Amino acid sequence: MVDEEKLIRLRELKKKMWEDTTLPLRKSATNLVFGEGDPDAKLFFLGESPGYWEDQKGRPFVGNAGALLNQLLYSIKLPREEVFITNVICYRPPENRDPFPEEIEAFAPYIDEMIEVIKPKVIVTLGRFSMAKFIPGVKITVVHGKPHGVDWKGTKLTVVPMFHPAAALRSGEVLRQIKEDFLKLPELVIDSEKVEVRQMNLV
Ligand code: URA
Repeated sequence: MVDEEKLIRLRELKKKMWEDTTLPLRKSATNLVFGEGDPDAKLFFLGESPGYWEDQKGRPFVGNAGALLNQLLYSIKLPREEVFITNVICYRPPENRDPFPEEIEAFAPYIDEMIEVIKPKVIVTLGRFSMAKFIPGVKITVVHGKPHGVDWKGTKLTVVPMFHPAAALRSGEVLRQIKEDFLKLPELVIDSEKVEVRQMNLV
């Protein structure tokens, strides 16, 4: 699928989501925070849910946690426009409470379709809710920064669980760890490309 087709499919998906009156949290939210970035991104960042500023602007990670995410991307010389960023929940939960399992489930088909269209090489989960989508039953303090090979609906994906940037803003130690984990990302993307080239050469 070429970029243009991906862009069209993402636009259609956003429209479908916007029109879906069954989605939870729709009534209390100001805006749908669909996600944004390169439709052909190799890196896909999956956060938790929109906060105050994301809800106001309809864009993911534009508040304090977003400022840190931007700095972390800058540290690996990766422009934000070249990755894709979204959340497991696309409407803001009241008072920024944790998302409920049934809410995560309601948004999941949309998130899955975003992944299917974009076909990223690496998914970076930010926080425990997005981590649990791919790697259930593990502790983030144990697995953060470690790449996990995941068979995602028949496609091989690398999932890298990371702490949520908001947690890093509250703890110097978590900040140190998320900075260290980010530095591993460029190599992981290159490695997954090497595997792909090897596979292509075999055909
Ligand atoms: N926290 C998240 O998980 N997502 C956002 O978009 C903003 C803050």
